Amino acid sequence: MTQIELRGIEKFFGAVQVIHNLNLAIADNEFIVLLGQSGCGKTTTLRAVAGLETIDKGDILIDGKPVQHLKAADRDIAMVFQSFSLYPHMTVFENVAFPLRATRMSSGEVDKSVREVARVLRITDLLDKRPSALSGGDMQRVAIGRALVRRPKAMLMDEPIGALDAKLREEMRAEIKRLHVKQGSTTIYVTHDQIEAMSLADRIVIMHEGFIQQVGTPDEVYSHPANLFVAQFVGSPVMNIAEARVADQAGAASVTVGEAPAGFEFPHQLLSKLNGHAANGGLTMGIRPEGVLVRHDAAPGYMPVEASIIEPLGSFDIVDLKVGSTMLRARTKAGYVSGPGERVHVRIDPEQAHFFDTASGKSLGVRL
Ligand SMILES: Nc1ncnc2c1ncn2[C@@H]1O[C@H](COP(=O)(O)OP(=O)(O)OP(=O)(O)O)[C@@H](O)[C@H]1O
Ligand SMILES: [Mg+2]
Repeated sequence: MTQIELRGIEKFFGAVQVIHNLNLAIADNEFIVLLGQSGCGKTTTLRAVAGLETIDKGDILIDGKPVQHLKAADRDIAMVFQSFSLYPHMTVFENVAFPLRATRMSSGEVDKSVREVARVLRITDLLDKRPSALSGGDMQRVAIGRALVRRPKAMLMDEPIGALDAKLREEMRAEIKRLHVKQGSTTIYVTHDQIEAMSLADRIVIMHEGFIQQVGTPDEVYSHPANLFVAQFVGSPVMNIAEARVADQAGAASVTVGEAPAGFEFPHQLLSKLNGHAANGGLTMGIRPEGVLVRHDAAPGYMPVEASIIEPLGSFDIVDLKVGSTMLRARTKAGYVSGPGERVHVRIDPEQAHFFDTASGKSLGVRL
């Protein structure tokens, strides 16, 4: 059982505040991912939990007990970094065994623990090798093994696979997930890669400039982004964002983006749901490329537009469509639009549209 709670954490480096009133409760066995751009405070938060960094305000609780006064070594938390520093003169076995050597464990018990961790991480046949003989992925497995061998209360990982190439990253991602399902330890994992975050996390914590933007399951942050930052940070290709005006038009709502000559048709109930936001000019619509529907021939509700750049991405294409002064990116079947300049017809799927207050960036929580 390990719960971690962060209450009202503030952190300054000199006069610069890098963490602002951070609150987060992490459940036993939960896999939490801190996601955000470089410099948003992910590592600082992780180091504070580990005891490698002091905080200026707030409380860090492990299983309900404040731990700020405890040294890193007394918090029983293991940390894996991006740059895995294995001891080059020791074998893999000795590297993994190292944290146990300082304990009063008998050598028989050490041997058993190392072999168990090695089995889980599939590095048994590497135990006699030295780090210089290992691939990047294997080195990272060994580093994780060294962190796990003490059976810590919690695992903290700071971009542990960020330095590996794309294929290996994908492999290690699956490995880390498998390991978590098997070992089930409370984990805080830091990355700036949203795909890594989506695939690993029970819940994602999206950070920006030291502030938490949203905490939610991968589905929640993808389907119900709390603000424009999250909307554009999660999802690839990124969500289309455009200033929008909404008008009442013959029993339907008409949503005009940019300087488009006509509006997209939406159900009339959008007007009442927006509750006045339509009128004051401070409205932004967000729509993911898969919510921009494209067809060749004309149909009710579809607007004629011209295709611009086409990006083939293998199983699908991303097609840029000129809608007035706004460019909307649509996701289509591969090859559906033949080339730039082709005339097609486009519609916005109302059910996939998001609406935000332009000034604050906050989601209005309006879904159809
Ligand atoms: N020891 C330090 N002294 C002064 N400023 C620091 C120190 N460590 C971090 N910072 C600053 O604090 C802010 C947060 O840094 P942090 O390392 O937590 O970001 P991060 O989200 O982990 O970024 P990255 O993705 O680049 O690793 C940054 O502006 C950084 O420059
Ligand atoms: Mg960092």
